[in-house]
Amino acid sequence: MSISFSGAPEDNITTSRILPEDNAEGSLRPRTLSEYIGQEKVKENLRVFIEAAKLREEALDHVLLHGPPGLGKTTLAAVIANEMGVNMRITSGPAIEKAGDLAALLTNLQENDILFVDEIHRLNRAVEEVLYPAMEDYAIDIIIGKGPSANSIRLDLPKFTLIGATTRSGQLTAPLRDRFGVVLRLELYTTEELQQIVTRSAGILGIEIDREGAWEIASRSRGTPRIANRMLRRVRDFAQVRADGVITREVADYALTTLEVDHMGLDALDRGMLRSIIEYYNGGPVGLETLAATMNEESITLEDVYEPYLIQQGFLTRTPRGRCVTRRAYEHLGLDYLGQQQLEL
Ligand code: ADE
Repeated sequence: MSISFSGAPEDNITTSRILPEDNAEGSLRPRTLSEYIGQEKVKENLRVFIEAAKLREEALDHVLLHGPPGLGKTTLAAVIANEMGVNMRITSGPAIEKAGDLAALLTNLQENDILFVDEIHRLNRAVEEVLYPAMEDYAIDIIIGKGPSANSIRLDLPKFTLIGATTRSGQLTAPLRDRFGVVLRLELYTTEELQQIVTRSAGILGIEIDREGAWEIASRSRGTPRIANRMLRRVRDFAQVRADGVITREVADYALTTLEVDHMGLDALDRGMLRSIIEYYNGGPVGLETLAATMNEESITLEDVYEPYLIQQGFLTRTPRGRCVTRRAYEHLGLDYLGQQQLEL
């Protein structure tokens, strides 16, 4: 898990990365599938797999959760553990440095426990190779000694469930990916779902909010509960200082506009990305690496953090020749759309 502390643009309100203030996320996390709002298809599948595993009194099959950051992969893993009635240990790909680190984690699990590995695409090769027999045969091979006298002994593990989470399933090696029996993709949330999440969170935090206020926050949080919950807390500050403490549509609009989040939930960086493509590349197509260099950003950040929402909202398209902005983006930015042909004449 990456934690960013300060310095624009990572500390802006619309980042889906985890910020220090998100520590309070814990209390807002749903504990059961019925409390978990949205991701209907994923929940439907999980309900069946969890019930079947419980009926057979077996560990749940290994689960891979993938999708953009901030959509609740860790939360969902904790819900699965809770529904299964088992313990969950949390770690991440980069935190497991050596094969021995993974062996220690695995040998400490109890029967049917869950090991949650965030950013699983960042596991190193040596660690990944220990994981294969662990996932497949619930065993690890330990090498004792060196050179010709080295011996390998097989250590049995308790039956466990690996839940891997990644924002980049394309970067998973095929052998690792193939060992997950269940692969689930989390999608960006709809405004209706986010409105329910904001309303639920406000209830837990004791914040007064009306339906339009919750809708305003929901529609500007780029499909991401982590952002919606963060906006809720910041809008509450405005409501208490500038209004009577109740979050209405007007208060939410005032607060979010002050925070430079526009009506579509785009922040300065989103708009900057669209503008760069328009100003420097006639609206595209432009390759991701070229664009990242122009914007002085990492291409992975553009791809994982910015693009999913811009694509979902129809501002950006991915073509074989690169990224293109749409007419909708021009209109949103208040620019004349001349059409590709005319610009190239
Ligand atoms: N808080 C964050 N994500 C949530 C979700 N999917 N359902 C309910 N509350 C949430």
